[in-house]
Amino acid sequence: MTAPRGLVDHLPKPIAVITESGAIEYHNNAFDETFGNDAAQWLKEAARAVAGERGWLHGFFVDSDDLRTIDVEIEGRVYRVDRIMRVNEGESPAVALAFEDVTREREAEQAKSDFTAQIVHDLRGPLSGIQGTLEFILSADTKLDTMYSDLLQEAQRESERMMNLINEILDFSKIKSGNFTVEQEPIRVAGVLKRAVRSLQSVAARDEIFLVSAHGRDVPQIIGSVEKLTQAVINLISNSLKFTPQKGLISVGAQIERKNDLPEAIVITVTDSGMGIKADELRTIWEKYKQSGTKSLRGGGGTGLGLYIVKQIVEAHGGEISVASVEGVGTSMVLRLPVKRAA
Ligand SMILES: Nc1ncnc2c1ncn2[C@@H]1O[C@H](COP(=O)(O)OP(=O)(O)O)[C@@H](O)[C@H]1O
Ligand SMILES: [Mg+2]
Repeated sequence: MTAPRGLVDHLPKPIAVITESGAIEYHNNAFDETFGNDAAQWLKEAARAVAGERGWLHGFFVDSDDLRTIDVEIEGRVYRVDRIMRVNEGESPAVALAFEDVTREREAEQAKSDFTAQIVHDLRGPLSGIQGTLEFILSADTKLDTMYSDLLQEAQRESERMMNLINEILDFSKIKSGNFTVEQEPIRVAGVLKRAVRSLQSVAARDEIFLVSAHGRDVPQIIGSVEKLTQAVINLISNSLKFTPQKGLISVGAQIERKNDLPEAIVITVTDSGMGIKADELRTIWEKYKQSGTKSLRGGGGTGLGLYIVKQIVEAHGGEISVASVEGVGTSMVLRLPVKRAA
């Protein structure tokens, strides 16, 4: 490093060579001007093991990916830290890191997505107004001409779709900004299934699909959020509804997984006799914005966020989600939720 140092000394970007324990072997002038005496302290913290996990500095030593970049909060500002090279000349390995202050960019990004989330949220009000009106007309005693009632039902279906899209976008923005938390209340899974099935029963009936649910008695309680889990199951059922032909079957069930006679997990399954998912697409359906090439039978395209959100909900409950699917036969989504017992 001796030769280029003279040059690096005067670069406007803070650069430092740091060992795994957080010791600074070299730093340029900009680093000193930006972080001064505090640097030694926060680097020591960055290197320390926190609750069994290593700090962010450690990542630069274990990751062999040369393009490692992470955003780190240092004294109220966000820095994008780049590893520009490994330095293995001295006693202990070290890395050369460059720091770029991205606080402004981050704030601007956040403001933009807050703004979008707000607008999307505000769309919900008028849309529920429309839904209420349609609901009222369709349930009123007045005898409607078949043509009109078909058209109104179509409008109702489209407004449901729009509401789903809005809710997915809102959940997604909550996940992205880290505001996605799950309540910790004792819940009955049987009730979750019942609520989810009830809310889609009329949609299924309209499309002539049998939607049934079954679960054993004494399904134990788990800890989590009724609302979020119901939403996850609704999400899975509405996917099944999109890909299952008329006269098809969607069954929703819960089973108890035991170990030494004690309930260990509750396994919720949503199985349909639909079009299935291609084997090579099975791995990627959880990713955000991911949709398979298969065209849905009804209800057009979604956001591709549904399964991503379901996965976040299940993982926030300490559970896992998996899928089994055969093209042309059907799909089975499996949510496994651990039963937490008092110690
Ligand atoms: N039950 C199912 N049957 C067939 N394909 C499915 C099923 N569930 C999900 N998929 C596939 O996975 C993709 C991702 O689902 P999702 O994340 O809910 O997004 P979206 O419903 O908005 O398309 C869907 O577009 C579809 O291709
Ligand atoms: Mg979906």
